Amino acid sequence: MAQPHYSFHIPTLLVLFFFQLPFSWSAQVQVVTPPLPILPLPSYSQLKWQQREIIMFLHFGVNTFTDSEWGTGRENPSIFYPTGLDTAQWADAAAGAGVSLMILTAKHHDGFCLWPSKYTDHSVARSPWKKGHGDVVQEFIDAVRARGLDAGLYLSPWDRHDPRYGHVKLYNEYYLAQLQELLTRYGDVREVWFDGAKGPNAPNMTYYFNDWFSMVKELQSAINIFSDAGPDVRWVGNEKGYAGTTCWSTINATSLSIGNGSIIDYLNSGDPKGTNWVPAECDVSIRKGWFWHKSQAPKKLTQLLEIYYKSVGRNCVLLLNVPPNSTGLVSESDVQRLKQFRGAIDTIFSTNLAEKCWVEASSQRGGENGGGFGPKNVLDDDHLWTYWAPSEDEKENYWIEFRTRTKRITFNVVRIQEAIGLGQRIKKHEIYVDGVRVAKGTTIGYKRLHRLEMGIVDGFSVRIKIVKSKGIPLISSVGLHFDPFWNPN
Ligand SMILES: *[C@@H]1O[C@H](CO)[C@@H](O)[C@H](O)[C@H]1NC(C)=O
Ligand SMILES: *[C@@H]1O[C@H](CO)[C@@H](O)[C@H](O)[C@H]1NC(C)=O
Ligand SMILES: *[C@@H]1O[C@H](CO)[C@@H](O)[C@H](O)[C@H]1NC(C)=O
Ligand SMILES: *[C@@H]1O[C@H](CO)[C@@H](O)[C@H](O)[C@H]1NC(C)=O
Repeated sequence: MAQPHYSFHIPTLLVLFFFQLPFSWSAQVQVVTPPLPILPLPSYSQLKWQQREIIMFLHFGVNTFTDSEWGTGRENPSIFYPTGLDTAQWADAAAGAGVSLMILTAKHHDGFCLWPSKYTDHSVARSPWKKGHGDVVQEFIDAVRARGLDAGLYLSPWDRHDPRYGHVKLYNEYYLAQLQELLTRYGDVREVWFDGAKGPNAPNMTYYFNDWFSMVKELQSAINIFSDAGPDVRWVGNEKGYAGTTCWSTINATSLSIGNGSIIDYLNSGDPKGTNWVPAECDVSIRKGWFWHKSQAPKKLTQLLEIYYKSVGRNCVLLLNVPPNSTGLVSESDVQRLKQFRGAIDTIFSTNLAEKCWVEASSQRGGENGGGFGPKNVLDDDHLWTYWAPSEDEKENYWIEFRTRTKRITFNVVRIQEAIGLGQRIKKHEIYVDGVRVAKGTTIGYKRLHRLEMGIVDGFSVRIKIVKSKGIPLISSVGLHFDPFWNPN
């Protein structure tokens, strides 16, 4: 939004100041300010990431041609031959799914590089594809940009090919060299993905994560770093795409480490007392495997919707993997399923039945004429910076209610969003229809979706009670929706 710009001559300001002060200081109308934030807060890039809701992962490499998930590192680069590779088709598939960021496996555990790295010959440069003159990363980046989308990259820490792996200093130097290639050659990269995956018999290796993270931030200012331990985005603790029913974006970064099995539950739920803002990303594949296998088919629409409700609907971002096949294209069955998935999400959420209702709240910051913080804010299109705020005099039992006089509202999904720009606050909430409780939950965060266990409900009033909160709750959006795909039986 453009801010109006005023300029005054200094003498004019002085005159105004002296004239105003004695007469109208107390009578001056003071616009009610936003409340103080509750720390920690998201960074600008984390907020942008959160609003993406769905990101696409693309696992592609030698495994695509060997029908495997973890390559051995001994693959002959000559097997990499995607005769019909078309990255524009990948970007179209992503756009069809309403995705704004795509992340490509530039190198997986097998060590084969999809770009011609000058630090190894185990790459596309030794494949027959484009007679060794191709660069999948470049083509990927070009297609993503042409579509107006953003790009991210995965560079596997575990490398089963390179002989430097296991020699701590040499391998960290090699890894950092490749990271520099990827983050300087291809323009803006919005997410970089690190994991702790490693086979049980792999050589011992200490990764210099601090060096890696510092270099990433030095080379890319708007990037988010994903790993088990953040620092910007954390792993959700499983590969099913499910966040905890309680899911805080806050956590103590000092309790996290990469590849540590004992923190899985902590990652899944976050920490209400956490001192760092490190929201969770839910990675899952549209098929059983991460790489393409002829024998596998995409998950059913109902499974994808279940994943959506348990990831995006639990304050997380969904990272959905869609593997290109050995021709170098996203399979038609996956393209169709993605379109269906997006169509279903749009069908469910494009109509908000609460918009027809009368809205009331337990109180509002600055009073009814104080401006700015009334309950109607939850019905506009801004899901971050306009919000209902109760009065700070109110200490508990905050509520917001939607009422209709004539016709009952019929729905089976309730959407609640917090104004997370001022911190995640809500610890416990309940939903009532005509005085009967239909759902309850703990955290809300950027987006909480309740797909009602009892199925369709109808009534004249819907009340959301905020039972426990850190400070006053700030609600940026509420939706009452009808999901025609939901059948609890
Ligand atoms: C890794 O280090 C541990 C402890 O130092 C040792 O027991 C193990 O044998 C080592 N593994 C390999 C593959 O070298
Ligand atoms: C795993 O995490 C726990 C909890 O933070 C910590 O006590 C433990 O030292 C970590 N283990 C490793 C190997 O980092
Ligand atoms: C996280 O850190 C806060 C502040 O130091 C502390 O109160 C809280 O107990 C920590 N959480 C855990 C699980 O240790
Ligand atoms: C890859 O997908 C494309 C698009 O559906 C299809 O035309 C092609 O035959 C597929 N390749 C293989 C090897 O299945």
